[in-house]
Amino acid sequence: MTDVAGSPLDTGTESPERTPLARRAILPHLAAGNIGSRLFVLDEIDSTNSFLQRLPEGEATEGTVAVAEYQTAGRGRHGRVWVAPPRANLLFSVLLGRPGQPLGLVTLAGAVSVVEALRERGIDVGLKWPNDVVSKGRKLAGVLCETRSDSQSGSKLILGIGVNVNLRAADRPEDLRTTATSTMELVGSAFDRNELLGEILNRLQIHWDSLRMGELQPLIATARGKCETLGRRVRVKVGESIVAGLASDLDGSGRLILRMDNGEQRILEIGEITYLSSVG
Ligand code: BTN
Repeated sequence: MTDVAGSPLDTGTESPERTPLARRAILPHLAAGNIGSRLFVLDEIDSTNSFLQRLPEGEATEGTVAVAEYQTAGRGRHGRVWVAPPRANLLFSVLLGRPGQPLGLVTLAGAVSVVEALRERGIDVGLKWPNDVVSKGRKLAGVLCETRSDSQSGSKLILGIGVNVNLRAADRPEDLRTTATSTMELVGSAFDRNELLGEILNRLQIHWDSLRMGELQPLIATARGKCETLGRRVRVKVGESIVAGLASDLDGSGRLILRMDNGEQRILEIGEITYLSSVG
């Protein structure tokens, strides 16, 4: 386990926006549960998802969390890269078992947990189906769910979450200056990343426990209430095809119900959304 105090990333400044991540600062914020029961705090890694992919099977216990100050090969959905400067954001992954529920629900649980933790802190964010956390049309966080298979214990999930926290617009690549945002930009001050991580993990624990027990409705109901995609006309890229219509609801598995212009309904498990209208 690597803690970051005195790490090569330590610039020696005491600025609150660069307070390091540390086990001793995260653990007091964690409620009871298995998520975070093993916690790796890393200076630098290729990707926290890859770190959990590589853990030997005997160490790959459910609830293991890896959080990093910096990723050299962070990845997003659709083969994109996920870039963040050191010590600004939250970049973490959680190893989970198979819930016996659609994977989309686990992704949704990750995004909803971030939304809840930020709203609790007075930040007005919403869910852009299926996995983005947004504010005023700008992306603040994203979720990438991958699988891992083990010969003895079967397959598992790796839920990777990136949240823009103490990130200034000037620190972002040019192409992300107007399409992304961060908690610092939204509230004008730095956030304690250790505390925020603890809160997101606690929320995730609640949703994960419900999913494991087959209780899907609390998560779906919360997601519906926070999903800013619903009620809008949208264009959705699904693989190579594009469909358009009204995003009318989420079904009982967290899939998007799209009412198309010809009156037909499509149920989408995954897709990349572009908004064609503001709330309808
Ligand atoms: C997306 O919106 O495209 C998903 C982004 C997920 C990024 C996180 S950062 C921590 C974890 N490690 C990765 O390499 N990716 C995820």
